[in-house]
Amino acid sequence: MKIPPFRERTVLVTGASSGIGRAAARAFAAAGANVVLAARRESALQDAAREVEALGVRALPVPCDVTRAEDVERLLRETDAAFGGLDLLVNNAGIGLYGPLEAISEAQLREVFEVNVFALWRVTRAALPLLRRRKGAQVMNVSSVLGHRGLPLLGGYCASKAAVNAMTESLRTELASEGIRVLLVSPGLTESEFREHRRNAEGWAQDAIPLRAMPAEAVAQAMLRAALRGRRDTVLTLPGRAMVLANRFVPGLFDLVARRTANPRKKSS
Ligand SMILES: NC(=O)c1ccc[n+]([C@@H]2O[C@H](COP(=O)([O-])OP(=O)(O)OC[C@H]3O[C@@H](n4cnc5c(N)ncnc54)[C@H](OP(=O)(O)O)[C@@H]3O)[C@@H](O)[C@H]2O)c1
Repeated sequence: MKIPPFRERTVLVTGASSGIGRAAARAFAAAGANVVLAARRESALQDAAREVEALGVRALPVPCDVTRAEDVERLLRETDAAFGGLDLLVNNAGIGLYGPLEAISEAQLREVFEVNVFALWRVTRAALPLLRRRKGAQVMNVSSVLGHRGLPLLGGYCASKAAVNAMTESLRTELASEGIRVLLVSPGLTESEFREHRRNAEGWAQDAIPLRAMPAEAVAQAMLRAALRGRRDTVLTLPGRAMVLANRFVPGLFDLVARRTANPRKKSS
């Protein structure tokens, strides 16, 4: 019988109550991992933990707001007490922000950076002592294709994910000599609760995007493959990859295309 690749390994997923994080928790559990699930909504977290346990592994749901230092400390204390170390940290918790840079509020921009950037840094820092105890430990940061290129009406969110990309690159080289790999996964448009949770500048709401969204399960499978192969950079969806490449090789031309989606007069009613 084939041994599941993550058997007896421990994976911590932030933002495990819905969408990509919840699907990732199931994917790593199906690969044999015990999973620590962190998010704020307790009942959704308990449901996600039951899905993980149904796959025959241990689940540890820890209600946690990643923007609160004391919650994050407790999250890692409970992980340590239950599993004695950590093989993979998946920094997935995140929120979106929509509206022109002129219209988003400072509070909204700070909130998005608190969750997407500061919390990722905080959780990673707190998890390092546990990761250091396991050979071949990994950190996986969930960015976005929008972390590779700023788009109109998404500047606050794009900036937060660009910060994630830069932190990932720095951390990768800081930890390389210790054998801890740092991976970046950049999903494109994905089916999840992201749109419902996104902050919108006052008077702004995004229309439906005319692109096919990737199922969260497919993103989770790509995350599992990235972890198994130690792949440093995974960019998802065809339009997402095309955007990243076009921006790298013909940025001026891409500006012209991007301009067409910026219409500051187009507000929701
Ligand atoms: N959906 C897309 O199209 C897309 C595309 C590219 C990248 N992404 C990225 O993928 C990641 C997951 O998003 P998703 O699409 O799965 O959206 P989602 O369904 O809204 O999931 C976001 C998760 O983050 C958690 N979260 C938010 N704030 C938190 C906080 N302060 N403390 C703890 N947990 C928090 C939420 O849990 P609670 O509300 O229970 O706390 C939820 O579990 C995000 O980093 C997002 O930026 C999404």
